[in-house]
Parts: sequence; C-alpha cells; structure tokens
Amino acid sequence: MVEKSAHQWLRLLRGLSGKVLLLTIIFVMLGEVLIFLPSIANFRIQWLKTRIAQAEIAALAAQAAPNQIVDADLRGTILKGAGVDAVALTKDDKRQLILRANEEGMIDESFDLRPGIYYNTIGQAFAVMFRQHDRLVSVIDKPPAMSGDVIEISVHEWPLRDAMLRYALNILALSIVLSLTVATMIFAALNRVLVKPMQSLSANMMAFGDRPEDPTRIISPTKRDDEIGIAERELKMMQTQLQGSLQQKTHLAALGLAVSKVSHDLRNMLTSAQLISDRLGEVKDPTVQRFAPKLISSLDRAILFLNQTITYGRAQELPPTREILPLREIVGEVFDSASLLAADKIKLINDVDKVTTVDADREHLIRMLTNLTRNGIQALETLRKNGKAVTISAKRQGSITVIIVADNGPGIPANIRARVFEAFQTSARAGGTGLGLAISAELAQAHGGSIRVAETTESGTVFEVLIPDWLDELQAQNGRISKNVGA
Ligand SMILES: Nc1ncnc2c1ncn2[C@@H]1O[C@H](COP(=O)(O)OP(=O)(O)OP(=O)(O)O)[C@@H](O)[C@H]1O
Ligand SMILES: [Mg+2]
Repeated sequence: MVEKSAHQWLRLLRGLSGKVLLLTIIFVMLGEVLIFLPSIANFRIQWLKTRIAQAEIAALAAQAAPNQIVDADLRGTILKGAGVDAVALTKDDKRQLILRANEEGMIDESFDLRPGIYYNTIGQAFAVMFRQHDRLVSVIDKPPAMSGDVIEISVHEWPLRDAMLRYALNILALSIVLSLTVATMIFAALNRVLVKPMQSLSANMMAFGDRPEDPTRIISPTKRDDEIGIAERELKMMQTQLQGSLQQKTHLAALGLAVSKVSHDLRNMLTSAQLISDRLGEVKDPTVQRFAPKLISSLDRAILFLNQTITYGRAQELPPTREILPLREIVGEVFDSASLLAADKIKLINDVDKVTTVDADREHLIRMLTNLTRNGIQALETLRKNGKAVTISAKRQGSITVIIVADNGPGIPANIRARVFEAFQTSARAGGTGLGLAISAELAQAHGGSIRVAETTESGTVFEVLIPDWLDELQAQNGRISKNVGA
C-alpha cells in the first residue's frame, strides 16, 4: 500500500504536475534572491548607521565630562556600549578625536556614507559576509544629532558579519517557507485549472484509442471557452468523424465479403444454367434457335465476370484489355439482350454507322452501354406516351469516340442529379441499387475517358460516353482493324 502510494507520487512528480511544482519553486526562489541582494546591502548600511548614532551619543557624553577628561575604565565602557573603537567629530573644520580605545589597530578600509546612495554596496556587503579575518574599518557620515559637520568612527567588521549571517539565515528560512507556501498555492491552482483537465483529456484519448468503435468513449466536452475547451471540442469532432469512417469501413468490408459470397454461389448457379442452355440449342424450334445463342453468350459473360470478381480483389475491376471494336455491332449486342426488358412498347434504335470504331475492352464497353440502356428503359417504363425510345448514336471528336445514349423519358429527378455517379447515393428507383452509373463511370475512367449527363429535361435524357483511343503499341500494330477517324 505504502509502496503503491510512493509509486503514484513518483508518477505525479514526473508528470505535468511535478514539472509545474518544480518550476514554481525555482521561480519563487529566484524572486527571493532578487529581493535578498538589495536587502542585505541595506542591512549593512543600517547596522553601520546605528553604530554612528550610538557613537555620537557616546561622544556627546564624553564631551559633557568635566574638562572633557574621561578615565580609561569609563572610556572603555562607553566605547563598548556604542560598539565602536574610536569616534572623531569634525566641527568648523576642526577634527577632534573624542574617544579612542587603548589598543587601536590600523584602519583597513574606510567607507563614506555621506553620498546617501547605497545600490552599489551589494558587493561590499557580500565581501563582509565571506571575509575570513576580522578588520578594522572607518566609517564617515553626517552626525545624525548634528553635533558637528562630520563624524568618523572606527569599528570591527566581525560583529557586522555575524549579524549579517544571522539575517541571511533568517531570510533563507523565510524564503523557504514562503516559496513552499506560494508554490503549493500556485501548484494547486494550476493543477485544477490545467493539469487535471489535461490528464482527463489524455485519459480519454487513451480510452478511445483502446476501443475507437465504442460511442460512449467519445469525449463529452466541458463548457470552457479557453484553449482546453477548444481542444476538447475539436477532439470530440475528430473522434466522431473517425468513428463514422470506421463504421463505413466496417460496412464496406462486410459488403465486400458479401459480394464475394454472392458472386461465388451465383457463378455456380449460372454454370448449371449454362449447361442446360447448351442443351437448349439442340431444340429445333425456330424461336429457341434464335434466342439460344444470345442466352448462351449472356451466361458466358456473366460467369466470366463473376470469376473475375471472385479471383481478382473482390470489388476491383480488371484493367481493360483494349481492342478496336466496331461500335454498331456492340450496340446490336447490347440491344439484343435488353430487348426483352424493353418489350414492344419501347423502341431501341441503333443509330451508329458501320464504320465507327471504339478502342476499348469489349466486356467493359458492353457493360457500360447495357447500364445506360437499362436506365433509359427503366425511366421510360412507367411513362405513358407514344414513341418511347432509347437511341444510341456516335461521333468522333479528334481521337475520342463519343457514344450518345439518349431517351425521351422524364429526365433524372432533380434531387439526385448532382450525385448520380456516386455509389449507393441514388436509389430513386424501386429495385435499383444506385450502382449502375457509378460502375459505368469507373469503367470509362479506366479507359482514360468519362461519362457525363449531356442533357436532362422533362422530355428526355442524354448520356455521353467518351472513350479516347489508346495511343500506345496497339496503334503501331499492323494488320488489325484500321481506325476510322470521323463518323
Ligand atoms: N436515363 C435516365 N432517365 C431518368 N433517370 C435516370 C436515368 N438514368 C439514371 N437515372 C436516375 O439515376 C439513378 C441512378 O442510376 P443508376 O444506374 O446508378 O442506379 P439504378 O439504376 O437506380 O440501380 P442499378 O444499380 O440497378 O443500375 C436511377 O435510380 C434513376 O433515378
Ligand atoms: Mg441503373
């Protein structure tokens, strides 16, 4: 128990609290030293002035004696009482040695207190305190009782030194008590105002770091309006944001796994369907003969795509394998598979001429155009009007093939227009996932191109797919379909 509290103390001292405590003690002590220097000098001056005053009284007493003659014993007593060795008074330029000890020694140094400025006597005061042997000094001043013009005394330094040391020790003791008191008060105040809030802030950070997904670990900021209050509020914002993106990440990871699982089992189901549809080709019925190859190629594409999704990094696309494709044929293929969805009421018009080509990945291009065509058909489905149609045309702009997918539907709802290319952001349509355009835009970007809404009004929507030619080796290769620039 005792050990633990000692340990806690050590931690307290090594932390912010300890530093604050140490710094306050240092600064208070420093303040005390700055006050001590002039005060010790002043102490010395006052001590000497007291001696001078006493010496003057002693001199006056001696002068009052009959014939001004004082016997040796009395002289010794008077001088001892005044604490000086000799006194001389100067009056009207006549110097009179009034009292003198019997065995007076040589004067070592003399000080004149008459100028009355003492700030430069700090050095002299320290010299006295550290003096190793006693000295006899003379001190000159104006006599305080005005018994003459100048009074001069000679006095021993040892008693002064003793008094100064006692005074310094007292001051030291006082300083220690004072600095401890002040330091404790400052420490308590700073601890409350700064250290404690900082400690709870860092404790919160550590707790949040342990389990960042736990919403109860987000800091609840106090109402302080200083920097700590700001830090608390900023921290709360950061933690909330972090938790948000963490949740999104978890959600996406779960989604990725779900996609893989779905793709996997879906592929197995489609493989069985593929086997059955192979057999379907053997049926002699002309309708079956017409649709069977399309069914088979759709299934083939679906299985290939699912396989790619499963093997190649879940939701990530394979980079496009580009070739020069005859666009009219591709659009025909897209319309073939969409024709059942369009039924009879919606016309699919392939307005691409025979010479236009696109430099793209075949599967990717089919997926982009299928998504756009299906969107057009779905937008038209609920609309009651005649002449409903989805038209695909194309033109060349320099080295870019622009594929135009137009419908005469109701237009993209205004509230989602800005976000149609963002995944999961638009689910205006029942049964839609809001992924089709996001995927298509990503595929176009993989080709160095883009998809844009060229026009969307109440009378129709026009999407444009821009696919630039791939200018690398492919262009240099001979013998492949030559490019046809200009539609
Ligand atoms: N040609 C269009 N005419 C009108 N609205 C459209 C058209 N194309 C897209 N939209 C609107 O944009 C939304 C997003 O389309 P997107 O293809 O990304 O997703 P979706 O069609 O809802 O779902 P899915 O992922 O099955 O394609 C659609 O729900 C629809 O409201
Ligand atoms: Mg769609």
